[in-house]
Amino acid sequence: MKNLQLSPSSPLMQRDFIFGVATSSFQIEGDIDGRLPCIWDTFCQRPGAIEDASNGEVACEHVARWEQDVELLQQLNVSAYRLSISWPRVMTQEGEINESGLHFYQQLIAQLNRLNIQVFVTLYHWDLPQYLEEQGGWLNRDTAYAFANYAAKVTERLGDKVAAYATFNEPFCSAYLGYEIGVHAPGKTGRASGRQAAHHILLAHGLAMPIIRKNCPNVQAGIVLNFTPCYPKSDNPEDVQATTLADEYINLWYLQPLLEGTYPDVFERLPESDKPVIYEGDMAIIQQPLDYLGVNFYTRLHYSAATDSNSLYTEHEHQGPKTAIGWEIYPDALRELFIRLAQRFDLPPIYITENGAAMADQLEGGQVMDTDRVAYFQSHLEALEAAMLAGVEVKGYFAWSLMDNFEWAEGYTQRFGLVYVDFQSQQRTLKQSALAWQALLQQKRELNQ
Ligand code: FCB
Repeated sequence: MKNLQLSPSSPLMQRDFIFGVATSSFQIEGDIDGRLPCIWDTFCQRPGAIEDASNGEVACEHVARWEQDVELLQQLNVSAYRLSISWPRVMTQEGEINESGLHFYQQLIAQLNRLNIQVFVTLYHWDLPQYLEEQGGWLNRDTAYAFANYAAKVTERLGDKVAAYATFNEPFCSAYLGYEIGVHAPGKTGRASGRQAAHHILLAHGLAMPIIRKNCPNVQAGIVLNFTPCYPKSDNPEDVQATTLADEYINLWYLQPLLEGTYPDVFERLPESDKPVIYEGDMAIIQQPLDYLGVNFYTRLHYSAATDSNSLYTEHEHQGPKTAIGWEIYPDALRELFIRLAQRFDLPPIYITENGAAMADQLEGGQVMDTDRVAYFQSHLEALEAAMLAGVEVKGYFAWSLMDNFEWAEGYTQRFGLVYVDFQSQQRTLKQSALAWQALLQQKRELNQ
């Protein structure tokens, strides 16, 4: 498929629905001399941690090339850009603003404002300052307060130049991948560790929200969660029950405290020694009103009953059509997810803050014919449209990602960009998917003139 197509009457084509692209600081910025080290710098040095033994030292050289990258946004016709701020770039170890680091974002945001591109800022997209990790990182309750201080100082300075703030990107990944199974920075393991990290991240979110609101009363404040919908391997009741536990452990562990101030029932299944330490009042702090919920969606997973008494469920390998990173392509899970969440929770308005696909891109004759990625986007836009027509309130959609970048433990082996990056020359080339977005958004613009 070469082009993206939506009917003019689609809710996605209406004026108020926004389209953007997303990136994150560590994945694109480079210039590690301009900031303090973060946990990903350290993790990248660990033998075997990163697929191609690479790191974020250069990445897309975005700090040097940001003006050119903003031109790419303009070419794509997007009306919004989701970026993240590097905590170790904008704050000193003493917890004060590092002016030169902040200046980088101020000039970037000023340029986006001039071009009428709405700025969605994520305060934490996984790059915890290393000095905080040395004091325990997210296992140390004080880190939640350090985050609140960082959020206070940065939002005070950036104020309403920003359209929306998100406290965190995907607490699941930071806590579970980083502190429970150890495949992401800082590479710690253990259920007690993962659950405690999650609790402190949620607490940090809750502490920061009222401060952001006070500093920026006219800016939307929320959080970004990732959802991997859980499907049972069979209709057998044990498999269905295990799937519910998996959903609670992986997805609802983050959403339910935010919206209802409680952990899901699976909490009670954990041995006392694996339960997080929760202070009185924490759950009320975590349950702050949200102006929006950011949802990142890529794939689904299948589950069946546990095979040993320490496990809650068995997770299965991805089946069926897959992207290059090995994730199943199953757009209907997005529609079902939204409908299920809307039935179960009193949801704030939703933005899809990430959706996209890694594909085996080839740059040939100055072109990348990523028709497989275009098809991925098309099918997911249709799933989103179906959810909206069924009554779910979604206000915007961000494609992951503006350009190819450092894909965490996969290094530079996985390309998610609409724009192809040659990591030797740093040359950027619009892929066919970028051209498809450009055309669709041009059409949308003309429709709403
Ligand atoms: C998400 C991350 C993002 C990117 C995509 C592929 O989990 O938020 O940084 O790596 O996956």
